[in-house]
Amino acid sequence: MAALRMTISCVILLQVLSCLLSSFAPTNVQGLKVGFYDKACPKAELIVKKFVFEAMKKDPTLGAPLLRLFFHDCFVRGCEGSVLLELKNKKDEKNAMPNLSLRGFEIIDNAKAALEKECPGIVSCSDVLAIVARDAMVALNGPSWEVETGRRDGLVTNMYEALSNLPSPLSNISSLITRFHSKGLDKKDLVVLSGKGHCPQIRNRLYNFTGKGDSDPNLDTKYAAKLRNKCKPTDNTMALEMDPGSFKTFDVSYFKRVSQRRGLFQSDAALLDNQETKSYLLKQMNSDGSTFFKDFGVSMVKMGRIGVLTGKVGQVRKKCRMVN
Ligand code: HEM
Ligand SMILES: *[C@@H]1O[C@H](CO)[C@@H](O)[C@H](O)[C@H]1NC(C)=O
Ligand SMILES: *[C@@H]1O[C@H](CO)[C@@H](O)[C@H](O)[C@H]1NC(C)=O
Ligand SMILES: *[C@@H]1O[C@H](CO)[C@@H](O)[C@H](O)[C@H]1NC(C)=O
Repeated sequence: MAALRMTISCVILLQVLSCLLSSFAPTNVQGLKVGFYDKACPKAELIVKKFVFEAMKKDPTLGAPLLRLFFHDCFVRGCEGSVLLELKNKKDEKNAMPNLSLRGFEIIDNAKAALEKECPGIVSCSDVLAIVARDAMVALNGPSWEVETGRRDGLVTNMYEALSNLPSPLSNISSLITRFHSKGLDKKDLVVLSGKGHCPQIRNRLYNFTGKGDSDPNLDTKYAAKLRNKCKPTDNTMALEMDPGSFKTFDVSYFKRVSQRRGLFQSDAALLDNQETKSYLLKQMNSDGSTFFKDFGVSMVKMGRIGVLTGKVGQVRKKCRMVN
């Protein structure tokens, strides 16, 4: 009898425990969690997705820049929306050299305006960036992952911080590793996150920017010429890349390209100069792409935790381009 009572109370205790555990499980130490807006703005992620999908239907080339916005945000001051802020004197991150023509800001603005209508003052601009980055990959039939939310927006942007925090395309492997490590990302994250295929992503900007066989005027002409030399218009992977269903194939092809020392940037080739990064690279190259999809999601979630503001720190901006 006593044993039975004991068993029952154990079962109850276990249930309470597992309930407690599961309510804590999705939350990491920094206070982010999957579904942060489930109660306060249940449609938040749906609204953002709608804007991303609509915009990318019109212009599929927006996928890459929308991912890149989040990377640039997170590496400078953490994922707190500083990449979106504009200063009158233009000394903001947007105007720093490494921005090399960031794009997609209107989509962030449009999604944010719709969110402000649905639930004013609830969803931060930094979370919009995080959700948009995921949805942009999904729209390309690429990897998907559960986005942690609960970030708040910062108050500061500074062009010099962009210069000193974003990795240069001329980086050697030790400075890449150090840079990523200082953001809480390891060698595997470095390789995996590099695998979004630099060459195919910027090929349009090198060869056919406005559809007239021109290059993007924002690119320094000498630099563009150098890149064209590395990233040919008629690469044999071209046909694959044109088919959005082949996202997997073309990401594995990035690793293949790098392993043959045909990476676009010195920083791509540098991934071969360290035993560990090299072995991750070869592993990804020889996988069927599903490993890459899974790993990419994991590394993106990690990147999304860099220097976040949560709780009562920072603010939820009304408009993403300015502090309240
Ligand atoms: C490892 C260090 C990295 C370096 C040195 C680097 C450098 C660069 C440079 C120089 C460009 C060309 C910019 C231009 O189009 O003018 C570029 C493009 C791009 N980068 Fe990276 N990047 C790095 C990592 C990443 C990461 C971690 C991501 C995202 C997860 C990312 C996403 C992109 C995307 C999507 C583009 C194409 C943008 C477009 O088509 O407009 N990069 N990167
Ligand atoms: C990027 O920086 C350059 C100056 O380095 C500036 O002319 C350009 O407008 C900036 N891009 C964006 C999207 O703000
Ligand atoms: C790598 O680059 C950094 C920064 O530019 C430099 O200080 C360092 O000496 C370089 N390391 C090697 C091994 O070339
Ligand atoms: C450049 O873009 C235009 C318009 O999208 C297209 O008609 C043309 O075939 C493209 N040219 C090349 C060489 O890809």
